[in-house]
Amino acid sequence: MFQVAIDGPGGAGKSTISKAAAKELGFVYIDTGAMYRAAALYCMRQGIDIKENPELAEQAVETVAVDIAYREDGQHIFLNGEDVSEAIRMPEVSMGASQVSAIPAVRVKMVELQRNLASAKPVIMDGRDIGTHVLPDAQVKIFLTASAEVRAKRRFDELTAKGQAVNYEDVLAEMIERDRNDSTRAVSPLRQAEDSILLDTGDMDFEGALSAVLAIIRKKMNQEGEL
Ligand code: DC
Repeated sequence: MFQVAIDGPGGAGKSTISKAAAKELGFVYIDTGAMYRAAALYCMRQGIDIKENPELAEQAVETVAVDIAYREDGQHIFLNGEDVSEAIRMPEVSMGASQVSAIPAVRVKMVELQRNLASAKPVIMDGRDIGTHVLPDAQVKIFLTASAEVRAKRRFDELTAKGQAVNYEDVLAEMIERDRNDSTRAVSPLRQAEDSILLDTGDMDFEGALSAVLAIIRKKMNQEGEL
């Protein structure tokens, strides 16, 4: 199966670009961050402080059923049957997701789910460790990045457009802290795979970044006789 792995830090444009590229190519878009967000939301609802009590968080995530479904409007994620696709987008879930994703047993559970999803159809999967760990044989690996300031500005604009009252400095500080958590954890940290293509989207708009990503994928599909 043709697999595209897109990794990079938060706010680099991975999800919007991956989603649009998958639509254009007729691939399934798999958002792996959503799985860690759902795990974090579950812990938060149980009143667990993930950072202070990682053992409790681990136990909680072990018992919860996390399911994924693909519909017309994209990926939906369920916790014990409840659709939490909207709830996981709350800003406070982002840091929890970063914390819960550092727990090795949580990663094992999510990676198993991710590999199962990628075995059936051509996919574009985005995350932090897709090229380095989840899909090491992916035909295309792209590392999307941009400076923390650019990424924070994009996230700030996104949240403001949704009507949320946020402060740019806070968004930037959280972005930097999440980058640090994600790239310094012991298991599968955020890292560029050696065989991946680096794409800095700092000076690109959405259309420019999307066409750069599509060009990389199509070139490889051509080489592999997939187009
Ligand atoms: O992509 P995102 O911002 O929705 O991801 C939320 C958190 O989940 C992120 O801070 C780190 C973690 N994550 C991960 O560790 N591995 C992945 N493949 C995807 C996300």
